Amino acid sequence: MTDDSASFPADFLWGAATSAYQIEGSPLEDGAGPSNWHRFTHRSVTVANGDTGDLACDHYHRADDDIRLMRDIGLRAYRFSVSWSRVLPRGRGAVNQRGLDFYRRLVDRLLEHDIQPMATVHHWDLPAELDDAGGWLNPDMVEWFADYAEVLFRALDDRVPLWITVNEPWVIVDAGYMHDCHPPQRSNPREALAAGRTLLRAHAAAVRRYRGVGRNCIGITVNLIPQFPFTTNEADLAATRRSDAYINRHYLDPIFFGTYPNDLRDAFGPAWIDPTAAEAEGVREPVDFLGINYYSRAVTRFDPMVEPLGAAAVVQTGAPHTEMGWEIYPDGLRDILVWVRCRYGEVPLYITENGAAFADPAPAGGRVDDPLRVDYLRSHLLAARAAIGAGVNLRGYFVWSLLDNFEWNCGYDKRFGIVQVDRATLRRTPKTSTDFYAEVIRSNGANLTR
Ligand code: BGC
Repeated sequence: MTDDSASFPADFLWGAATSAYQIEGSPLEDGAGPSNWHRFTHRSVTVANGDTGDLACDHYHRADDDIRLMRDIGLRAYRFSVSWSRVLPRGRGAVNQRGLDFYRRLVDRLLEHDIQPMATVHHWDLPAELDDAGGWLNPDMVEWFADYAEVLFRALDDRVPLWITVNEPWVIVDAGYMHDCHPPQRSNPREALAAGRTLLRAHAAAVRRYRGVGRNCIGITVNLIPQFPFTTNEADLAATRRSDAYINRHYLDPIFFGTYPNDLRDAFGPAWIDPTAAEAEGVREPVDFLGINYYSRAVTRFDPMVEPLGAAAVVQTGAPHTEMGWEIYPDGLRDILVWVRCRYGEVPLYITENGAAFADPAPAGGRVDDPLRVDYLRSHLLAARAAIGAGVNLRGYFVWSLLDNFEWNCGYDKRFGIVQVDRATLRRTPKTSTDFYAEVIRSNGANLTR
């Protein structure tokens, strides 16, 4: 259901998003240290085709061209992440000026083209030395992260209006500490909970540092997956609540209320340790905005075999899915935006990622024809507009992603870009969705219903 009478505000921020390890390439150049993902891709057998981020989109050397591409699309904003180990090769201590200079230049070039930078401090690539020191299980990470963030704030805040501390703490925890598919490949519920707590404390510590040295706006990005019960029987409803607590409320309740959802204590049993009052109060640090990444929903049922939540996702056979196997469910975007407003109040929201992987055809006539991605974007943008119509204070939308890039464990197989990147030549070719999105920006969304 969409509200056709709603419209995007005149100053709505239209952007595209990427992250450092997924596009930059040359992870060790100019004095950078190795990251956990660099090490993981070189050792792991689980990344598709043995792909690594060694070359990625070679954005490290092609940033100027990529910014011209952004200008041609008409982007008003660009969300990128900083590679921690370029700036602090050992994670802490001496700053590598050449690494920092890459981001200084990037930000300068963006501003020259009237593109607002939105910088993510941490999008999963952790300096390998910090990984060795225990990663997010080590409580010292709170201050190390804040120190790193402060280096960026001091260097770039005069030119970066929007900051994001951490991208998707749930994925860092669930994939890295609960289900061993991302580094550091742990699978331990107690550790998963501990890592989540450290991440939240680190986020809050960085926000506090920002209040001391920054002048603009700072928030965090969470990925939200609205949970729908498979049936209305009590077991399915309870499983759905546990899943919702684990994925959606786990990180937002502490930030906005200074509390953790009770369902987590029930689900995790003895692995759960109550936070002290000081810890709970410490993570409740006001943010200037909230970033939301939305890709799909989940239909959830009770399954006692799935530890510790006792909840499993039910595949919606018959519904359309992307190449990631994620159901295409645009109404979930409107629902989750409205839910955030009802539960957490008037905080300004940005959709910091939304997009889809499809098996695109080869270029023909200088374009890649990707009608499925155009449909995906159109339906989700209409859902975003409907949320605005329902009173949500949505300030901007960032498509994931600008470029086809390194999709973590899926390597380069899954393509999310609105611009194609040829793996052999790295040539950038616009897709139909590039033109579509350019027109969305130009018309401020008026073309969505045309
Ligand atoms: C992440 C991106 C990723 C995208 C698609 C998000 O979880 O922030 O890095 O590429 O989803 O899987």
